Amino acid sequence: MTPSKKILVTGGAGYIGAHTVVELIAAGYEPVIVDNLSASDRTLLKGMERITGRKPNFHEGDCRDKSFLRDVFQTEGPIQCVMHFAAFKSVGESVQKPLLYHQNNIDSLLVLLDVMQEFKMTDFIFSSSCTVYGQPDVIPVNESAPFKRAESPYGATKQICERILEDIYPTGFRIVSLRYFNPIGAHPSAMMGELPIGVPNNLVPYITQTAAGLRKKLTVFGNDYDTPDGSCIRDFIHVVDLARVHVKALEYLQHERHSKLYDAFNVGTGKGVSVLELVNTFIRSTGVKLPFIIGPRRPGDVEKVYADPAKAMDALRWKTQYSLEDAMKHAWAWEQKLRASHSED
Ligand code: NAD
Ligand code: UD1
Repeated sequence: MTPSKKILVTGGAGYIGAHTVVELIAAGYEPVIVDNLSASDRTLLKGMERITGRKPNFHEGDCRDKSFLRDVFQTEGPIQCVMHFAAFKSVGESVQKPLLYHQNNIDSLLVLLDVMQEFKMTDFIFSSSCTVYGQPDVIPVNESAPFKRAESPYGATKQICERILEDIYPTGFRIVSLRYFNPIGAHPSAMMGELPIGVPNNLVPYITQTAAGLRKKLTVFGNDYDTPDGSCIRDFIHVVDLARVHVKALEYLQHERHSKLYDAFNVGTGKGVSVLELVNTFIRSTGVKLPFIIGPRRPGDVEKVYADPAKAMDALRWKTQYSLEDAMKHAWAWEQKLRASHSED
């Protein structure tokens, strides 16, 4: 019997999930999307159809709803692997609504694993985050660095989820946790990109919305950090490079014969880039004006963090292809496309 090419993608209507669906289709897989549209709408689902010419099966529902998930697994039949993107991700909001974050991010994982076990499914890829490290002592940070106290309830949910995965894998799961650093940019076709609801929290959508005139100015949160230009340092990775690592993680799980497995990988470029450097790269690569001021530090921000991605490059045979300039150009093209489509409405 030919093994199933179906990959269940929870949160597939969101930013990273949608880009991953496109890469899965390009690699010959058959993604099936589950999303409750709580932090997204159908825009990226339409975008992925335009890019791929395919319409993946979409099940609208909540990962915390066991009977809904059972229905999905029954309807779809054999599924090779589950990729679990569905979660809330706003650091600031998690401080205001910690219970909501713990409920959504942890319950959805627990219910999903429970139903997977019921259906004798083993292979699982989890969206983790560099936030699990807190402010690491050694940078670039590698996967063996200890988890410091999480800076936010969001960060705590990712630490707890990884702990759950480590605890349950000996009962017959094969699990990869991917610790994303800072995903940015958009699909080169400008058919998909980041789609924040309301005022963006993350840097790049704030930059592009300011450049487009939706926001008056960008505030750079702090220039008195212990870094060369005083602004925070991050590891910004193009979302398509990030999406592609999921295909590599799938291949890794296929080749690994172990019946029980748990492994975590950093997914970053290995380059630390400051917020001011990123702002200047945007201006330089797009030629667009970007009004910005320096403001106070944002509570909860880590001063500097970037990845040692050697483990993923080696074991998953993956490397990044896009530059920071590409990411800025693609993010700007996506923003312009969004503005054009809104002005048509
Ligand atoms: P996103 O908000 O764009 O997408 C998440 C999707 O999950 C949304 O479409 C939302 O509607 C859906 N969702 C949320 N809770 C759900 C539930 N209970 N049931 C079904 N669907 C649900 O976020 P993203 O940027 O694509 O992030 C994807 C994953 O990657 C998340 O787990 C996030 O924590 C993680 N991550 C993101 C970043 C980042 O900066 N974007 C960095 C590190 C890790
Ligand atoms: C954080 C987490 C990441 C998480 C993501 C989800 C860390 C190190 N990273 O990313 O794992 O998944 O949130 O949202 O904890 N900035 C400005 N002005 C702005 C917006 C941001 O100066 O208007 C600065 C921030 O202070 C920060 C940098 O830009 O230094 C990046 O911020 P952001 O895009 O929000 O991502 P992180 O907070 O790094």
